[in-house]
Amino acid sequence: MRIGILTGGGDCPGLNAVIRAAVRKGIFHYGDEFVGFLEGWRGVVENMTMPLDLSAVAGILPRGGTILRSSRTNPGKHEGGLERCVETLNRNGVEVLVAIGGDDTQSVAMKLHDRGARIVGVPKTIDNDLSGTDFCFGFDTAVSIATEAIDRVHTTAEAHNRVIVVEVMGRDSGWIAIYSGIAGGADVILIPERPFDIDNIAESLRRRHARGRYFSIVVVAEGARFARELGADGSPVVTALAKDEFGHVRLGGIGNVLAREIENRTGFETRAVVLGHIQRGGSPTAFDRVLATRYGMGAIEMLHAGESGCMVALRGTRIVSVPMAEALKKTRLVDKDLINVAEGLQFPVAEAVSR
Ligand code: F6P
Repeated sequence: MRIGILTGGGDCPGLNAVIRAAVRKGIFHYGDEFVGFLEGWRGVVENMTMPLDLSAVAGILPRGGTILRSSRTNPGKHEGGLERCVETLNRNGVEVLVAIGGDDTQSVAMKLHDRGARIVGVPKTIDNDLSGTDFCFGFDTAVSIATEAIDRVHTTAEAHNRVIVVEVMGRDSGWIAIYSGIAGGADVILIPERPFDIDNIAESLRRRHARGRYFSIVVVAEGARFARELGADGSPVVTALAKDEFGHVRLGGIGNVLAREIENRTGFETRAVVLGHIQRGGSPTAFDRVLATRYGMGAIEMLHAGESGCMVALRGTRIVSVPMAEALKKTRLVDKDLINVAEGLQFPVAEAVSR
């Protein structure tokens, strides 16, 4: 079978591990041939390819980024883009395509599947916000990096009697914030799922310091929202209003706004740290390497079983196939159980601070 592979959207650790596993499984077990499409859907629209053989994937398991590079190209926004994708696949003799990416990448895969292309998806994003799967690879690495940063910030906050706000990624979901916040023992965790009241946050920090603590750590997701203060209309803080081809604004900046507002209200010296793309760079954790490897192998099994329009997923400890439509149904948000864990430890998660 001749198989195409692409990696789309924001990169994340583990992409190379998926590519390697798919290529090795396909060549060793089925005698497949592979072609790589460069820079996500751009490579399919513009016919940019590279050969993917055993030598191309040798040594890439621990490497961050993606040997295929990535982009946020949306073929639907280019004149005849989707038709050009189908043409490119045919011209390259590609019988099936493995699309490694988040909801944006999978939404294009779904459209091409509807046009008759055979496609299997692999869920990727540090945000962990894809429905249909318990975990996306890349998330565990991002959480580990954020947790290490929180640990480091703890010691300097303590040494200087400061409040330190750590801003993490995650777009419209708070998975990275809540996992790293719990793992790092943050005093306040703010997530998009729960718009927060800044006066309550300030009060909670004042109470903590009144109990004899003289420093605090606040973890805030980039997409977290002020409930009503600062003239807020419930929108997130953004660094750029310009939208990408999938209609996303560039989030970021809430950490600094929050630090200023906390300092103004409490008088506690406050600093902000924005982790940004550090969370997406470098080598994947062992968990992500194993998950990515299982996903890569699972995708090959699925397409040899004749499946298309579906995505490989993790349910409990098992790798399963789910319809792409299910994965795209809605953004997967932090569940109540996890919020209860944070609140159970008396970390004030948003509105709960008023208790
Ligand atoms: O979706 C992954 C992600 O890292 C988000 O957490 C973040 O909002 C966005 O990508 C950043 O995108 P870019 O790399 O295009 O700035």
